[in-house]
Amino acid sequence: MDRTAQLSGRTADVAVAEAAARAPHAPHAPHAETLRRRAVAVLDANWTGTSTVPSRELYPHQWSWDSAFIAVGLRHVAPHRAQTELETLLAAQWGDGRVPHIVFNPSVPLDAYFPSPDFWRSSTAGRTAGAPRTVQTSGIVQPPVHALAAWLVHRADPVLSRARGFLARVYPRLAAWHRYLLHRRDLGGGGLVSVVHPWEQGMDNAPSWDVPLARIAPAPARSFRRADLDHGSAEDRPTDLDYGRYVRLATRYRDGGYADGRGEFAVEDPSFNALLIASEHALAHIAHELGASGAARHARAERLTAALVERLWDPAGGMFFCRDVRGGGLVPERGVSGLVPLLLPGLPGATVDALVRTLRGPHFGLGGVTRLAPSYDLLGEAFDPHRYWRGPAWFNTSWLLQRGLRLHGRRAEAGALRRAVLDLAGRSDFAEYVDPYTGAACGATGFGWTAALTLDLVHQGVSGSGTEGGDLG
Ligand code: SER
Repeated sequence: MDRTAQLSGRTADVAVAEAAARAPHAPHAPHAETLRRRAVAVLDANWTGTSTVPSRELYPHQWSWDSAFIAVGLRHVAPHRAQTELETLLAAQWGDGRVPHIVFNPSVPLDAYFPSPDFWRSSTAGRTAGAPRTVQTSGIVQPPVHALAAWLVHRADPVLSRARGFLARVYPRLAAWHRYLLHRRDLGGGGLVSVVHPWEQGMDNAPSWDVPLARIAPAPARSFRRADLDHGSAEDRPTDLDYGRYVRLATRYRDGGYADGRGEFAVEDPSFNALLIASEHALAHIAHELGASGAARHARAERLTAALVERLWDPAGGMFFCRDVRGGGLVPERGVSGLVPLLLPGLPGATVDALVRTLRGPHFGLGGVTRLAPSYDLLGEAFDPHRYWRGPAWFNTSWLLQRGLRLHGRRAEAGALRRAVLDLAGRSDFAEYVDPYTGAACGATGFGWTAALTLDLVHQGVSGSGTEGGDLG
C-alpha cells in the first residue's frame, strides 16, 4: 500500500514543521526532540485523511478507543487533525447513541481484517438500533475515553476549538453516547455499565474473561478465517479457541439486531467504568465551557465512583475485579484493568493507597522487576509475558496509571513511569505492546496510540504541567 498517497495532502514534513512552529523555543533534550519527530512520523504514516489507523497492517480501519488516545497526542502537533479524528468517529454514531468500536474504511479490501463489514452487516442488522446507512461499522463498542479526549483536545488550542465550534458539535453526541451506556447497558442493575463482548473492554484476551467465556460454545474454526495471524506472531495473539468464542458472541449479538440485555456474556469491568466516570467529569467541564452547569454531571460521576467501589472493590486483593453479571460474582483475576480506577479524583484515600501498593507489589512489580505495568498478574497461573493481554504491558494503561499517580500526588512514581514509557516506546519502535520485564516489542510496531501517548508525555515534560488543571476532576 502506498502510504504517501493516503496522507491527503498533509505530509509528514508538514506536520513536523507545524509541531516545531508551535513550540519554537521548547527546551527539548535532543533525544526528546528525536523521539517527538519519530512519533509524529508514525502518526503521519497512519493518517488516512480523516482519521488514524492503529496499525497499517494489523488494524487498517478506525478503532474507537485508539482514536481517542491518538487525538490526545495529536492535539500537541496538529490540533485540527485531533478534532477531525474525534469528529470522524462520532459521525459514525448509531441512532441509539452507541459509538461503534470500528469504523470501516471502504477502500481497504475485505480480507485485510476479520471480522469485516460483511460479518457485522451494520446497515442491515443494525437498522433497528439506528446504525448509519452511509458508513459500515462494527456493532459493539469500546471504552468511552472520548469525552476526556475531546476536553484535552479543546484545551490544547481553545481558540481553534471555539472558532470551529468543536465542543458545541461533539457535546450532544458525547452526551448521547454516555446515555446509551448508562441506560441500555446497566445489565447488573447496580448502576455500572456491562460489556457484552471482550472486544468491547479493549483488553480482549484478559484472563478475567476466561470464566464468563467458558460458557460460550465456540464457533467452529473452519467457519471463519482470522486475518490477525497474517501480520502478528501466533504466540503473541489469542488462541483459535478464544477466537471461536469471540465470533460466536458477536454473531449472536448481530443476529439479535444488536439489542441489549439478552446475551449470555455481561461483565462489569473496572477500567471501562472508570473511563466512563473520567469522561463524565470531562463532559461536566465541556458543559461548563459551553455556558451550562456541569454540576449534575460531576454529581453523577461521584455516584458512579461510589458504585464502582461498592460493586467491584476487593479489599483483600487491594484492587478492583470484574463482576461476572451472568455468573453472579467477582472474578478473582488480577488484571491491570483493576488498577485503572486510580485515575479517578473521587476515590477514597485508603483505596488510592491500596492501589499504589498493589501496583508496586509482587503482582505487578512496578518500580521493581517490571518496566511498565503488566496487563496481568505476574504470579497468576495464566501469566504469559507475550500473549495478548495475558501479561505484556501496553502503553495506554501505563499512561492512564501515570495520570492517576500524578493526580493523587505520587509525583516520583508518576515521573518514573513516564520516563519508562518514553524509553520503551522509542526502543520498541512504538510497539503495540511489550514484554513487561525486558521491554521487547510484541504485536505491531508503528502503533498509533503508542506514538500519540509518547507525544503527550514528551509535551508534559516540556510544559511541566501537573494535571493540566481540571482534566479529570
Ligand atoms: N482488538 C480486537 C482485534 O484484535 C478487536 O478490536 O481485532
